[in-house]
Amino acid sequence: MRVIIVRDYDEMSKRAAKVVANRIGEKPDLVLGLATGSTPEGMYSELIRMHKEERLDFSKVRSFNLDEYCGLSPNHPQSYHYFMYDKLFNHINIRAENIYIPKGDVENANISCEWYEKKMKEEGGIDLQILGIGGDGHIGFNEPGSSLGSRTRIKTLTKETIEDNARFFKKGEDVPRYAITMGLGTISEAKECLLLANGANKAEVLQKSIEGPISAEITASLLQLHPRVMIITDEEAAQNLRQKDYYQYAEEMAEKLERK
Ligand code: PGA
Repeated sequence: MRVIIVRDYDEMSKRAAKVVANRIGEKPDLVLGLATGSTPEGMYSELIRMHKEERLDFSKVRSFNLDEYCGLSPNHPQSYHYFMYDKLFNHINIRAENIYIPKGDVENANISCEWYEKKMKEEGGIDLQILGIGGDGHIGFNEPGSSLGSRTRIKTLTKETIEDNARFFKKGEDVPRYAITMGLGTISEAKECLLLANGANKAEVLQKSIEGPISAEITASLLQLHPRVMIITDEEAAQNLRQKDYYQYAEEMAEKLERK
């Protein structure tokens, strides 16, 4: 696990965008796992800037989103489908046929989930999965108690998640109670994971995820088992990390090695 502590949200976003751009540079037909929420918005803005000013090319990139609310149509302003087009896809040259987002408004969600898993495999699996972290420690919508081997499926959202997400809806009761999400088993199979965290409200859960026991109670803790994880966090979210000094020292040493 590589923990990179940066000053603030802006630096976190730019650093994360650079990782994505480097991976696309290494593999132009990268399979990207994408996330929604406030956390990755700045990274998406920076990727748009890099596309416009530095010709970062998404023409061969394929993308799979982590999750979608059940019951919202793709054109609902709070759907993750809408979010992704608004915050990223409408502003870069990714091809529409290379974009995959779980469908929240289908009659038979189970068939749709199975299809999603199959499609990911057909495309070669996810190369780089972007992740945020929920106040309850979730990645995707894998709420506490999710099976560590779970696949894409419907999850019931916790009260905490519903409250956290109520800020995006006009009324609290409008927040969907269910979502379709990639499972923890699905996420574990990504070749690389990049988790972003910012703000003091994430400090406690980030510490538990990185330094606490691996547990279905904090599903982000499963990342401790993953062979290639990078965490980029701002100072505020990093404030509770017990090994903070070591992570910073290790980064400096790694940079020295890279320069050699
Ligand atoms: P946020 O959500 O980025 O809006 O804080 C993170 C999450 O729930 O995964």
